[in-house]
Amino acid sequence: MSYWSGQNVLLGITASIAAYKSAHLLRELIKAGANVKVIQTPASKEFVTPLTLSTLSKNPVLIDFTQDENEEVWNNHVDLGLWADCMIVAPATAKTLSKMVSGESDNLLLATYLSARCPVFFAPAMDLDMYAHPSTQENIQKLLEFGNFFIPPGEGELASGLSGKGRMAEPEEIVEFVAEQLFNNLPLSGKQVMITAGPTFESIDPVRFIGNYSSGKMGFSIALEAAKKGAQIKLISGPTSQEVTHPLISRVNVTSAQEMLDACLSHFKQSDITIMSAAVADYRPKQVASKKVKKSDDNLYIDLEPTIDILKTLGNQKSSKQFLCGFALESENEESNAQGKLIKKNLDMIVLNSLQDKGAGFNHDTNKISILDKNNKFHRFELKSKVEAAQDIIDFIITQV
Ligand code: CTP
Repeated sequence: MSYWSGQNVLLGITASIAAYKSAHLLRELIKAGANVKVIQTPASKEFVTPLTLSTLSKNPVLIDFTQDENEEVWNNHVDLGLWADCMIVAPATAKTLSKMVSGESDNLLLATYLSARCPVFFAPAMDLDMYAHPSTQENIQKLLEFGNFFIPPGEGELASGLSGKGRMAEPEEIVEFVAEQLFNNLPLSGKQVMITAGPTFESIDPVRFIGNYSSGKMGFSIALEAAKKGAQIKLISGPTSQEVTHPLISRVNVTSAQEMLDACLSHFKQSDITIMSAAVADYRPKQVASKKVKKSDDNLYIDLEPTIDILKTLGNQKSSKQFLCGFALESENEESNAQGKLIKKNLDMIVLNSLQDKGAGFNHDTNKISILDKNNKFHRFELKSKVEAAQDIIDFIITQV
């Protein structure tokens, strides 16, 4: 599996003869495992057909702000910008470069560029004199100042018959260039991150258990966000139907609190950052029946004993170089309870969910979190999707380590 697996890539294609090479670039990205959506400027259809690109990408090609003649389905440039892990404009014509600089948004590609929060790469393609012109050179400088990535053109014979600098970099070079920037210079590159996720199940007998409603979505989203930021992830998961695929994530499946504790203890020493989002059972049956408990007319009482608090155990073992993040799910006195847990468990930060907030907690695709840092300061966030909440958590941790 390559680093590209599961990466969401927006490929922007503008009206240059080099657009024929974009089909090859698209093919390379797909082969490497990326999910690619293509946005074309209307004029670029003259150079490479949407049919070719949609067949290769297995996604409809996006050209206009609406999808059909009745203009009923909107191609949402904001959603596209948020979906992407990176955007590559290849080929980028002199005209598109100039519009990217001035912030014009008169086509879907430009509007998406302005909305994109991900790294944006541009690979210019034009004749040598256009490329050498001071206005083009100034535009490239400006785009670099805005934080975009410039993929330099090659030298050689050009479509005009002239020879010089201006032809779009070769597709393989573009893939390599982007991978180098995306995967080697990430904020968490080289960091080991341990994450717990999901519920634990505590056996009563061979067919019954005590569990909870945790879906694991939050922890899995955090794992993926941290991996996208370059960290090597050990994801210790309780029973869940969640799936995640990323070359930097290795998953360990556990069932009970005791198994989760054992897995955490065996990986904690190597871990630079630990994020404990699992909903671990606080109690387990003192005795596990070896045979199925039979029904009777009497009430049944199960003697429960406390489990070990994994987070507190790790907090006691933590070195000054390690960063430990806990979660707190509260239904009352939320902030003071979170402050108590931060101190009691020796944490560097705690993510607080309140059950009083609509759309937060278990069984939702959304979450409303507050982060309490070591200096006793709360950072409050709006209700967001769990994926966005995970981005906020990882972005916050990056500022702390
Ligand atoms: N946690 C843990 N081991 C346990 C119980 C909880 O590691 N046996 C961790 C959770 O993963 C979470 C944090 O402790 O990061 C807080 O969990 P929470 O259920 O909110 O709090 P508790 O400490 O269990 O206290 P209470 O249930 O009374 O609020």
